[in-house]
Amino acid sequence: MLPYNIDHVAIAVTDLDSAIAEFSAQYGAEPISREIVAEQGVEEAMIAVGGSHIQLLRPLEADSPVGRFLATRGEGLHHLALAVPDLDIALAHLREGGARLVDETPRIGGGGNRIAFVHPSAFAGTLIELVEVKP
Ligand code: CO
Repeated sequence: MLPYNIDHVAIAVTDLDSAIAEFSAQYGAEPISREIVAEQGVEEAMIAVGGSHIQLLRPLEADSPVGRFLATRGEGLHHLALAVPDLDIALAHLREGGARLVDETPRIGGGGNRIAFVHPSAFAGTLIELVEVKP
């Protein structure tokens, strides 16, 4: 179950192009990938930082989880993604401990990885994504 990396830290933004330009101007880092994940209603850009990534996330429409997040809280930290070696074992472990899961079963996220979200009520009001990185 032990996470072996922070896969990414996700920041919700309203305008992906200007967020990328601003981040690049301030920190000198450019995205290594950019993709639309229609199932989650987002477009995401991944910026490599050390062994991990900053993920900039924009909603495809206002009526989506990230769209509603922006409407109520504004831009900012959205979730923390932990890389785990086996997503099924991690989910079973969390379920046994009584953690509320957003995803009872894994789904396919950005990069084709298997992912699942754990509800913010499970730990310190923080939305956590578990990622099983494709070999
Ligand atoms: Co994510």
